[in-house]
Amino acid sequence: MTAGYTLITGASSGLGAEFARQLAARGHSLVLVARRRDKLAQLADQLMNQHGIDVVVFDADLMSPDAPAMVQTLCQEKALQIDGLINNAGIAGPDLLIDRDWSEQRDFYQLMMTSVAELCHRFIPAMAERGYGRVINVASVAARIPRSGGCNYGPSKAYLVALSEELNVTVAMDGVHVTALCPGFTHTDFHETAGLQAMKAGMPKWLWYGADVVVRDAIKGVEAGKPVVISGRLYRWLDPLFQSVLTRRLFRMKARPTVD
Ligand SMILES: NC(=O)c1ccc[n+]([C@@H]2O[C@H](COP(=O)([O-])OP(=O)(O)OC[C@H]3O[C@@H](n4cnc5c(N)ncnc54)[C@H](OP(=O)(O)O)[C@@H]3O)[C@@H](O)[C@H]2O)c1
Repeated sequence: MTAGYTLITGASSGLGAEFARQLAARGHSLVLVARRRDKLAQLADQLMNQHGIDVVVFDADLMSPDAPAMVQTLCQEKALQIDGLINNAGIAGPDLLIDRDWSEQRDFYQLMMTSVAELCHRFIPAMAERGYGRVINVASVAARIPRSGGCNYGPSKAYLVALSEELNVTVAMDGVHVTALCPGFTHTDFHETAGLQAMKAGMPKWLWYGADVVVRDAIKGVEAGKPVVISGRLYRWLDPLFQSVLTRRLFRMKARPTVD
């Protein structure tokens, strides 16, 4: 994907760790960012031994408004040229109407949208100047169709799709490809972290994809310069139905929010 370093947020598990493994196997050096430094260090050791690449780890909480600037400063101090950026860190987050602590909502937006925009703002101009860059913003199929309940996760991912599409048309001529990756249900720690194990256990197996498939689709898509990649055959088939004026309404489930 790149001759310099690829910076991956949320690399301590799930899709982020899988991006690290697949890019390392292609010989790319990496900067891994997340809060759990022990997990990052363990993965870094494994990838350096296995592939002979360089891997640098930074522990950062991307809910903190200072984190993106700190990450950029650390890269500058170590003279790491960032040619690839994968904004992947994310959580299921609070319910906009039910969870009453606004600071929880604000932190969620910081992690899911503002930190992504800021990392794009900090790293993409230098890529465009050098004439090469690859950026993947991990969104979701939840961005493609409104669902009742939550009112946070889908809208935050819809912002990443819109951001990626607009960045892509802005910098494509400078050799920088920006792609929004929209996975469907994927086997990672995501649902366990959100306390959604029971929901996951009750769902049909055919709705779920492995992280390896999703990451392969994403790398192929960004190389091809696609602004949006829907990963997994099932979701690629469903997405045109989500987007069509004729069929979109069939998927819009309405329900009253259960506000106490
Ligand atoms: N799994 C799915 O079904 C699915 C579907 C569509 C989209 N996605 C998206 O895929 C992305 C990756 O999630 P995943 O499925 O791989 O889940 P995961 O295994 O739970 O990984 C989430 C990653 O985000 C990091 N993270 C969370 N909060 C953070 C914070 N405040 N600061 C820095 N890093 C933070 C975590 O690291 P630390 O805890 O170490 O900080 C972890 O590395 C997310 O953006 C998610 O919305 C997932």
